[in-house]
Amino acid sequence: MKQISLLFASFWMIASAVSQTTQEISIIPQPVSLEKKNTRFVLNAQTKIAADSKNADVQRIAGFFTGQVKKATGFALGQAAPAAKTNVISFSLNRTPDKSIGKEGYTLDVTATGVQIAANDAAGLFYGVQTLLQLLPKEIVSESVVKKASWTIPGVQITDYPRFAWRGLMFDVARHFFTKEQVKQFIDDMVRYKYNLLHLHLTDDQGWRIEIKSLPKLTEVGAWRVDKTGTFGTFTPPAENEPRTYGGFYTHNDIKELVQYAADRYVNILPEVDVPGHSMAMVAAYPELSCTPGTYRVNSGEKFMQWTDTGFYALIDNTLCPANDKVYEALDKVFTEVAQLFPFQYIHMGGDECAKNFWEKSDAIKQLMQRENLKDLHEVQSYFVKKVEKIIESKGKKMIGWDEILEGGLAPNAAVMSWRGSKGGAEAARLQHEVVMSPNNHTYIDLMQGDPAIEPPVYKSVRLKSSYQFEPVPAGVDPKFIKGGQANLWTEQIYNMRHLQYMVWPRAFAVAESVWSPAEKKNWNDFIRRVEDHFERFDVAEIKYAPSMYEPIFDVSKDGELLKLTMSTEVEGLDIYYSFDNSFPDRFYPRYTKPVQIPRDAVNVRVITYKGKEPAGRMITIPVAELRKRADKKK
Ligand code: ACM
Repeated sequence: MKQISLLFASFWMIASAVSQTTQEISIIPQPVSLEKKNTRFVLNAQTKIAADSKNADVQRIAGFFTGQVKKATGFALGQAAPAAKTNVISFSLNRTPDKSIGKEGYTLDVTATGVQIAANDAAGLFYGVQTLLQLLPKEIVSESVVKKASWTIPGVQITDYPRFAWRGLMFDVARHFFTKEQVKQFIDDMVRYKYNLLHLHLTDDQGWRIEIKSLPKLTEVGAWRVDKTGTFGTFTPPAENEPRTYGGFYTHNDIKELVQYAADRYVNILPEVDVPGHSMAMVAAYPELSCTPGTYRVNSGEKFMQWTDTGFYALIDNTLCPANDKVYEALDKVFTEVAQLFPFQYIHMGGDECAKNFWEKSDAIKQLMQRENLKDLHEVQSYFVKKVEKIIESKGKKMIGWDEILEGGLAPNAAVMSWRGSKGGAEAARLQHEVVMSPNNHTYIDLMQGDPAIEPPVYKSVRLKSSYQFEPVPAGVDPKFIKGGQANLWTEQIYNMRHLQYMVWPRAFAVAESVWSPAEKKNWNDFIRRVEDHFERFDVAEIKYAPSMYEPIFDVSKDGELLKLTMSTEVEGLDIYYSFDNSFPDRFYPRYTKPVQIPRDAVNVRVITYKGKEPAGRMITIPVAELRKRADKKK
């Protein structure tokens, strides 16, 4: 009996060692090169850390790692003795730089006796740590101690470095305000996926979020609006004296703290002050900066722009007046303080979606056009942007703006952030200007990620697969002008951190891989496998994510008087089950295999996907009347 159990025990040990050495590796973004070894390292309470005690950066980075290990495992890893050879995790900066990995690259070697992370610069070591954490079991992201039989790291040799130096996420803190602590949480999550740039959209029609000491009304007035909940953009107009209790702003000290917090994690912060459009909060504070005399209020989410098939116009003038010298004096003050607070080389001046219908009626603008020989309102905006560029450059910074700044003539040194597809970026690159790509059809992570029948409403969708197809260098464009790319998170419809996380993940995994990994390393099916592993990590870390990738894509067309429904999934290996009789389908219902005709009297289509015996996506119910509208639209 004893012999049998010994035999069984040794079989079990071998089996578990084998399964641990073949443990699936799921790193996002995919490293440049990864070689698996037939071995493993086991982290335990006796594991020691070797990190140059004289180098504060190296110590801090090792501290990030040991801090997370302590939280999740309970092990307080001590410093290795100089002669220690086994059970050591070492962090070191290369004495002779390894040219192949650049400033942000690293090498990571996991053997049975130890782990070595080496880099040329501290940022690379930091990214090596992120990869090492992803090699550990998912429980490593736990905020509290998890008892586990073994904390195993598969044996690997990794060489890794980013494809682009600009790997950004834009966070709109203007439409909804997010506290300093929440911004830090956002930074914590982005750096796990090797993002290095946080673009803070600090001002808009719905709020001014940065203290400007020389223009105090910007925050006294501009940071506050009426508190409204529902579907932003459709709210009832506030009453004249309704309390303006919703909002907030970052003081100079808050900004300094955020900048330091980000810098400690190798993240630059790009501040955006969006002018001359999107400026209602500024005009509410200083109405004399408008071309249109009047009293203005910070917008509280009620409609004030009209979008048409051919363009848009404003129902209330939300622009600064390019013909008014006071505007440039005010912006000089704003950019003086912004430049002092943010060490990053670039300042973003917005420039997008500037309605010009009030300028058209303004005598001051007409005089400006005559005086400066400007032939249309695009040239008026270009005149404004060029003056802003001079102000920003006078503070020692470079200017970047949304791709509308190309209209009417690009300012001499401006960098362009391409959002209306990649066209603007391609044009700017042709003009030999720097470009950051953030095309809305791939990287707008405020848009719905699945069918409108289940997603919180936004005007359009970008599914995970479209995000994964993001290619920052379009065909025919000289890559030397493309600094990188970013995903943009507008927050009109995002009221809290939980929904923010839902919108960011998993699409920010896809964009991270597009800006870090070599294009030829991208592989959709393998990406999905890794996303699923990271979903499990997020379950441990209690970070929310959207399950939309598991849900069907619906295509409906007319079939005589009836409707024909075609369904597909972006993820392979899912079965779709459906009902037309209002009941809740499960895997014992009809399985979708080919386009189906919707029965004449059906009221609802209900659909759910399964992976084998387990439900994958959420149940989706679409009224047939809604499907008919979609079919009618297609013609
Ligand atoms: C933008 O999305 N308006 C830049």
